[in-house]
Amino acid sequence: MAEFRLPANSRINGKGATTHKAEGATNVKSFQVYRYDPDSGENPRYDTFEIDLDNCGPMVLDALIKMKSEQDPTLTFRRSCREGICGSCSMNINGKNGLACTTAIEDCGSEVKITPLPHMDVIKDLVPDFTHFYAQYSSIQPWLKTVTPPPSGKERLQSPAEREKLDGLYECILCACCSTSCPSYWWNSDKFLGPAILLQAYRWLADSRDEYTGERLDELEDPFRLYRCHTIMNCANVCPKGLSPAKAIAETKKLMVERAI
Ligand code: SF4
Ligand code: SF4
Ligand code: FES
Repeated sequence: MAEFRLPANSRINGKGATTHKAEGATNVKSFQVYRYDPDSGENPRYDTFEIDLDNCGPMVLDALIKMKSEQDPTLTFRRSCREGICGSCSMNINGKNGLACTTAIEDCGSEVKITPLPHMDVIKDLVPDFTHFYAQYSSIQPWLKTVTPPPSGKERLQSPAEREKLDGLYECILCACCSTSCPSYWWNSDKFLGPAILLQAYRWLADSRDEYTGERLDELEDPFRLYRCHTIMNCANVCPKGLSPAKAIAETKKLMVERAI
């Protein structure tokens, strides 16, 4: 039976919530940050961090780094590249999934609320568990698969037109902003591959050098893996790289139809 309330140990309570002040600052913005440590046995809470904007970089990630280094070293989040390339700082900022390192604080309104990506198990604070997401990625065999050897030991070449077909696909940084904003993925992530992985699957279907198109389509031909997408378009609305997983999914469905004719 569907459960419409969060389990008791996942409900937010105010117990233990802390406010970290920015003493003496005149240009202050308040951040509400989700805190949860499953090992503590305590429910999640929101801590408040007041940030002195005159002494902080411009991005939400700069504010998180300031909180961790100056106010609470136990605050936990992922980050690496700081420039929208690694995909590790994906989180939900004021209700929309995005990258903390490319989201400007000044675009966030007077208060900023930060939570982990929705519908993922939480390892700690803003760090979701990507184990299932990566297992789904692995299941689509995201590498070039061929049967014929390359021409006399040389590279497999593509024409500029063939290479262009990968634009809008290869740029994906696997941040999962799209999948975790997709209602179909929320309810069926055990079987539906979700927009990020389906975009990646199409990246190999669209590659002129790959020789396993038929087998790849066979793997996707399933009522859940591919066809749970109902073109709601949340995925394209949130992608921080401006990609459209929904379009890649539509192209994959078109290939399915074309091969059936
Ligand atoms: S278009 Fe498909 S994959 Fe994208 S959010 Fe909607 S249902 Fe999910
Ligand atoms: S398609 Fe966009 S939102 Fe989805 S994983 Fe790739 S980069 Fe992230
Ligand atoms: S830190 Fe790499 S994408 Fe944000």
